[in-house]
Amino acid sequence: MHNSNQPIKIIVAIDGHSSCGKSTMAKALARRADYIYVDTGAMYRAVTLFALRHATNEEGQLQPDLLEQRIDEIEIAFQKDFETGLPQTYLCGENVERAIRGLEVSQRVSEVSALPFVRLKLTQQQQQMGLKKGIVMDGRDIGTAVFPNAELKVFVTASAEVRAQRRYDELLHKGQEASYDDILKNVVERDYLDSHRELNPLRQAPDALVLDNSYMSIEEENEWLWDAFQQALAKAQDSCLDE
Ligand code: DC
Repeated sequence: MHNSNQPIKIIVAIDGHSSCGKSTMAKALARRADYIYVDTGAMYRAVTLFALRHATNEEGQLQPDLLEQRIDEIEIAFQKDFETGLPQTYLCGENVERAIRGLEVSQRVSEVSALPFVRLKLTQQQQQMGLKKGIVMDGRDIGTAVFPNAELKVFVTASAEVRAQRRYDELLHKGQEASYDDILKNVVERDYLDSHRELNPLRQAPDALVLDNSYMSIEEENEWLWDAFQQALAKAQDSCLDE
C-alpha cells in the first residue's frame, strides 16, 4: 500500500541496441526526476574486464569455469565523480570507467554477458537496486527480464551507421583512439549476438514504447522521454488512488 504523504515513484526501463544514446537520455531523465540512474551495460562490461584479467587462458580465450569460480569476488559499484558529477564504475574498489569503454572490452562483452551465471548474478543485483523504485535503468533486458512490471518501458534504436558514428565521436572526445570501421563492425556484431543469445536476449517488450532516434536531437529525445515519464507517473498515481 502506498503512503499518500510520499510522492509516488516508478521504475523506468530503457532497453535497446548498443550505442543508441540510451544512457544519455536515461541520465538526463534521472537527473530531472531526481531518480537513481543505473547503467547495466557498465556492469556487464566490468565483469568482462574482470574475466579478461583473471579468467582467460594463454591464448586469451575466455575460461567460463574459472570465471564462475571467482564470480563472488566481483564487486561492482557506482559513484559520482566529484568534479564532473558523472557516474563512475568501480570494480572491486578500482575506478574502471575508462578501461570498460575501450574496444577490447566491447569486443568481448557479448561473450561474457551470454553466460547464464553472469546474467543471474547481475539480474539479482539490479532487482535489489530497484526495490524502492525511483530508478531509471538502461540495458538490453530491463523491461523483459529484470523489471517486467516496470511502469515505463522504452525501446530505443537507431541505424547502425548513426550509432557507430556516435560511439566514434564519444571516444575521440574522451581522447581515446578509435577507428570508425572497427566500431561499426563491433556495433553490428553486438546487435546480432545480443539478440540471438539464449538467455534474456535483446527483445522489445510488447508493452514498450519504441523510439527511433536516428534523426532526433538530444533535446528532442529528452523531451519525448520526459513526456512519456509524466504520463506513466500519472497512470501509476491513478491506479494507486483506485486501490
Ligand atoms: O550498453 P552497453 O553497450 O555498454 O552494453 C555492453 C554489453 O553488455 C552489450 O553488448 C550486451 C551486454 N548487456 C546485456 O547483456 N544486458 C544488459 N542489461 C546490458 C548490457
